[in-house]
Amino acid sequence: MRDSNLSMSIDSQQLRAIFETAVDCLIIIDSHGEVSKINPAGAKLFGYEIKELVGQNVSVLMPVPHREKHDSYLQNYHTTGIGKIIGIGRDIIGKKKDGTLFPCNLSVNEFFMQSKKCFAGIIHDLTTRKKQEEEILELNRQLEEKVEIKTKDLSSVVNELLETNTRLENEIKERQKIEAALRNNELEIRKALEKEKELNDLKSNFVSMASHEFRTPLSTILSSTTLIEKYLENGSIEKTEKHFNRVISSVKHLTEMLDDFLSLTKLTEGEIPVNSEQFMIHDFCEEFMEMNRGLLKPNQELIRTIPAENQSVFLDKKLLNHILLNLFSNAIKYSKDDGKIKCDVEIANQQLEIQIIDEGIGIPLNEQKHLFTRFFRGANVINIQGTGLGLNIVQEYLDVMNGTIEFESIENVGTTFTIKIPLPQ
Ligand SMILES: Nc1ncnc2c1ncn2[C@@H]1O[C@H](COP(=O)(O)OP(=O)(O)OP(=O)(O)O)[C@@H](O)[C@H]1O
Ligand SMILES: [Mg+2]
Repeated sequence: MRDSNLSMSIDSQQLRAIFETAVDCLIIIDSHGEVSKINPAGAKLFGYEIKELVGQNVSVLMPVPHREKHDSYLQNYHTTGIGKIIGIGRDIIGKKKDGTLFPCNLSVNEFFMQSKKCFAGIIHDLTTRKKQEEEILELNRQLEEKVEIKTKDLSSVVNELLETNTRLENEIKERQKIEAALRNNELEIRKALEKEKELNDLKSNFVSMASHEFRTPLSTILSSTTLIEKYLENGSIEKTEKHFNRVISSVKHLTEMLDDFLSLTKLTEGEIPVNSEQFMIHDFCEEFMEMNRGLLKPNQELIRTIPAENQSVFLDKKLLNHILLNLFSNAIKYSKDDGKIKCDVEIANQQLEIQIIDEGIGIPLNEQKHLFTRFFRGANVINIQGTGLGLNIVQEYLDVMNGTIEFESIENVGTTFTIKIPLPQ
């Protein structure tokens, strides 16, 4: 029973023990603020002996201005019943005997002993906690300072980076502009070079074409003048006159060709001009054969088939003449001295079809695919003179006339060239 009572309530001995051994300061004051009890921890906290404090006004433990005002605080509480600390508790500053101030937490409650109002206070020293708090605050402040410095450093670095970036971007833009200009320049230079190359190709084309085309009338002139000399000696006026006329018409032909070739626009455009005209095909063939019969080798025979009807055609007479002359001179050149050369001309299905057939050396089968390539010459031509340009020119002329050329050839048997030129309705 006694034991259970002990566990239910605290006796004065136990209370004293708590009071004496408490770590915090326990203090009891009367209604006038006079210290009636203070525990050893409390006296020690403030640096006093217990006996020095008992009977003293509690305000000795407070710094100014609370020291002077403490009596009025108590008075106010007695009058109004409203306390600023009593029943609430708060952090205050305590003052030690040696004058040192220190932070502490005070909680006060009132109680009555033998119907006298008393106050019991518990003061907990906050020095260490405050110091730690201050240290934390200081650390925080230092940290913030460092962060601020770092942030400033960082922002200046970022600013520098941004500036560098902008500078780089500007440099890149400038470089791109320069590059674009250079590319443009390069393109223009390349275009100019290409144009120059084209012009050069055109010029060499022109030179080779001109020299090739001039050769045949020149050789006609040469052979006719030799014959004129011979016939003059014989007194054969008629034949002299005939060859004299051949020289004249060859010179005329040469002049016409010169006019054509030397026209600068034709050269720069790189195009062969087509000047179609109306003419009689029968007359044209007669004239052509008559003009070029002299090219035949002494015992060569010309067999021609030309339209009986003198039909009118609308074509470029000069180009047609060049085409025929090239094919005809090839047939003569690549045939034996007594070979037969056939020339068939006919008009059918709105087109002019001409075949030139010889019984000459022919074109080797494996080389036939190169026939129209510039400067191609068959392996079997050996001592026969030529430049390998004639057929290429023929093809170019036929192209501008929308015509076609085909051939069949067997080595040592003969060759047939067939050209077809459409006739306008
Ligand atoms: N009728 C033909 N018979 C045999 N070979 C031919 C005949 N026509 C052309 N060829 C072959 O084709 C080649 C090219 O002929 P092309 O007329 O282009 O040039 P070329 O006669 O050699 O020289 P040129 O420039 O003086 O005409 C000739 O060298 C020859 O090998
Ligand atoms: Mg030729």
